[in-house]
Amino acid sequence: MRMVLFNKILIVLLILAGISVSLSGVNASENSCIDCHKTLTPFIEEQKHFNQIRIQHLERNVTCSLECHEDRIRQLATSNYQQWQESLHAVKGVTCDACHGGDPKQATKEKAHTFKNTTDPESPVYYTNVPKTCGRCHPNELDNFENSTHYKKLESLQLAPTCTTCHHPHTFTVLNPEDFRNSCGTCHSVYKNVAPFDIPLKAEDMLRKVNKLKFNIDNAQQDIYYAKTNGTDVGLAETYTNNAIQTYKNLAPMWHEFNLTNFEDQINLANTEVKKAEDIVKPAPLPTRTGSPQVPGFIGLTGLISLMAVFYILRKK
Ligand code: HEC
Ligand code: HEC
Ligand code: HEC
Ligand code: HEC
Ligand code: HEC
Repeated sequence: MRMVLFNKILIVLLILAGISVSLSGVNASENSCIDCHKTLTPFIEEQKHFNQIRIQHLERNVTCSLECHEDRIRQLATSNYQQWQESLHAVKGVTCDACHGGDPKQATKEKAHTFKNTTDPESPVYYTNVPKTCGRCHPNELDNFENSTHYKKLESLQLAPTCTTCHHPHTFTVLNPEDFRNSCGTCHSVYKNVAPFDIPLKAEDMLRKVNKLKFNIDNAQQDIYYAKTNGTDVGLAETYTNNAIQTYKNLAPMWHEFNLTNFEDQINLANTEVKKAEDIVKPAPLPTRTGSPQVPGFIGLTGLISLMAVFYILRKK
């Protein structure tokens, strides 16, 4: 009798162990949002395009887009995973639930999806709530953003450009310069009658200049590295480059305040510092092909002259 009970307990224990092993195999990330969403169908270019249209709808306060394209949205759940997966947020463990809410411990969709739908004004990712949702972890950016008179004005108008006007949702990288034409142009255009009309092109131009500055700083840092290994004193060059980096870092808050007034001056200032650094460390240009190797050196020249002299003496004889 005792033996039978012991066997029963053993079997139950073995089954439990088996279940927990197989569960831990399924729930590798211990986050059901990630586990489930990564298994949904792959992301295609068409969905990306559709996503873009939907964002623009939201920015114009046209919230019907989700309902209007229900079946497309089904596919979009995947594209969001793929974009997220390549982001710094994925690296740092900022999972879907950090922004969307829901219960990442639940394995079924019904139980996990306790959050409000994206189109619900109470959803943490509804466009007017996005700044606050992001601001939990990015308080400085939120501060800059909320302090802009521009933002307050827009908020009361219900026409608020939000964090995702400039940052791709889910990759959260900054847009490409040419994308500003669309993202700012949704409102700033003659058709929409929101001044200033030149904003989209101006923003595009500024972001290009920022990218060029970033490139120049990278170059200077590389030249400093090589100059240092060649024994050059790079102290001053490093100071100039650090000044440039500081000015560069102060540009992001200016974006977040929509303050483009002194933007170009700041970029020029930083570029001047980079130039000063480069003047110290920039390697001398490499010799050109028509350079020294073709010209006979001193030894070659004296050799030639003495050969001619010997020849001359021999002929005279
Ligand atoms: C068992 C699978 C499963 C789990 C777990 C799951 N989801 Fe989903 N989710 C889906 C599917 C499938 C869709 C596609 C849309 C639909 O059919 O409703 C979806 C849609 C979504 C949407 C779009 C809904 C909308 O507003 O249009 C969001 C946001 C989302 N999931 C976030 C999450 C988050 C956050 C979690 C974790 C707390 C999570 N999901 C857990 C399967 C899952
Ligand atoms: C850092 C915050 C953040 C994280 C993390 C995040 N999302 Fe989102 N998500 C948003 C925001 C903001 C929106 C609204 C985007 C907009 O305004 O267009 C959104 C919208 C969505 C939507 C609505 C449909 C659509 O077309 O965009 C889905 C589906 C979605 N997210 C799924 C996910 C899934 C799945 C994950 C995890 C793999 C995830 N999100 C992680 C912020 C986030
Ligand atoms: C739960 C915290 C959390 C939330 C919510 C969150 N983030 Fe982040 N975010 C992070 C962390 C952590 C990093 C990495 C920062 C670092 O390592 O410097 C990051 C990085 C970023 C970066 C820099 C990305 C890069 O590639 O350099 C951007 C832009 C960003 N977040 C935007 C957003 C936006 C927009 C939202 C809201 C839709 C948001 N974040 C919501 C935690 C969060
Ligand atoms: C007008 C466009 C714009 C808006 C709106 C915007 N950002 Fe940014 N954001 C930028 C640019 C441009 C950068 C700088 C990127 C770089 O230097 O590579 C940036 C950088 C960042 C960074 C990286 C931090 C850093 O100093 O490099 C974070 C985090 C971030 N933004 C969060 C947010 C959040 C949160 C919101 C909403 C409250 C938001 N952004 C709204 C344009 C914008
Ligand atoms: C959803 C609509 C919308 C989007 C998107 C938008 N704006 Fe605006 N913007 C406005 C409105 C409305 C005003 C106020 C116009 C007025 O007062 O006549 C404004 C004003 C401005 C001003 C003048 C601010 C001031 O205080 O005088 C600047 C600069 C600006 N926007 C920059 C941008 C940039 C850069 C982008 C793209 C990254 C952008 N905006 C995207 C609606 C928008």
